[in-house]
Amino acid sequence: GMHAIKAVVFDLYGTLYDVYSVRTSCERIFPGQGEMVSKMWRQKQLEYTWMRTLMGQYQDFESATLDALRYTCGSLGLALDADGEAHLCSEYLSLTPFADVPQALQQLRAAGLKTAILSNGSRHSIRQVVGNSGLTNSFDHLISVDEVRLFKPHQKVYELAMDTLHLGESEILFVSCNSWDATGAKYFGYPVCWINRSNGVFDQLGVVPDIVVSDVGVLASRFSPVDEAA
Ligand code: LAC
Repeated sequence: GMHAIKAVVFDLYGTLYDVYSVRTSCERIFPGQGEMVSKMWRQKQLEYTWMRTLMGQYQDFESATLDALRYTCGSLGLALDADGEAHLCSEYLSLTPFADVPQALQQLRAAGLKTAILSNGSRHSIRQVVGNSGLTNSFDHLISVDEVRLFKPHQKVYELAMDTLHLGESEILFVSCNSWDATGAKYFGYPVCWINRSNGVFDQLGVVPDIVVSDVGVLASRFSPVDEAA
């Protein structure tokens, strides 16, 4: 049950931070095709992280982002110069948190829980995104897959959260909007919350999340504040 939870560990992209700005910039550069470009780009970016992990061949998330952008433009026959590439990739460093996130993090911390990010992003990317949004003090730990040079959903990545927080698996609630990521965390052994922001379908990989909510605010409201006077 939730009373055993001592820490909440979040995925970053799409869970806490909106990648909408990436779509908007793609649309500005490729009018009428921004949606398609950003979708293919995101899918390829994930694919490259998974492929590299399967091949035992690590390059950080920023490399996957750039490589996937080049593939996407190539395959759609779109021209993008080095400045354009740099501009689009830099969007991934200045994402906006979803509106419910800042207060939800405060609420979770007021409930006595530790908060952390466990992301496929590089150490640099995670620090940039969190710092640029002014939320550095809302997290106890920012954990990057750089430490193990493998990407989620590799099971060794999920272990990083236990090792960093010095907690058992049943004490950590793992939260992601990416159902493949929630699936990976569930197989590892964490209680899992799937943030279903856009009424999607959960992956058919043999497990289901323990909690499904529409945003992080709804999740935070399930934890009561610690009574400071007690
Ligand atoms: C992350 C991506 C996969 O933050 O959403 O790990």
